[in-house]
Amino acid sequence: MTERLLRLKVNGRRRTVAAADNALLIDVLRDTLGLTGTKQGCDGGECGACTVIVDGNPRLACLTLAATVDGAAVETIESQSQAGGMSALQKSFHEHLGAQCGFCTPGMVMATEALLRRVPHPSDEQVREAMAGNLCRCTGYVKVVESVRAAAEQGP
Ligand code: FES
Ligand code: FES
Repeated sequence: MTERLLRLKVNGRRRTVAAADNALLIDVLRDTLGLTGTKQGCDGGECGACTVIVDGNPRLACLTLAATVDGAAVETIESQSQAGGMSALQKSFHEHLGAQCGFCTPGMVMATEALLRRVPHPSDEQVREAMAGNLCRCTGYVKVVESVRAAAEQGP
């Protein structure tokens, strides 16, 4: 198996990691870098739990070959932590019950983060569209939309 050195900027920090040519980004993040906040919820591409932000755009880490993001800026849910506490966006999910068991929440938050950077005050329709690939077994999605709306009203 061929390995190569990848140079990534992960959550603002430059990292060099050795990864097999067929290594998936989710495995590099979780297993090599220890960033286990990114979740794997399905066999691939179905649930959105593994959503991270790559060069400003939401990406499914379980469908992304790590080698294809060499040189990119990758943001995971760990980037939301501020001085050890929750970000305003995470607090909004918590306070408006957009997070219940929490398994889908890292992917939801990262998909939302990417949306709010692009569209600071999205309509409910835009929120639903942006999160159409993020499945949740707990919330029924209404609380998720309310969480995003509250975060948008509060601003960054
Ligand atoms: S783990 Fe990536 S979409 Fe489900
Ligand atoms: S909060 Fe449980 S799967 Fe979404």
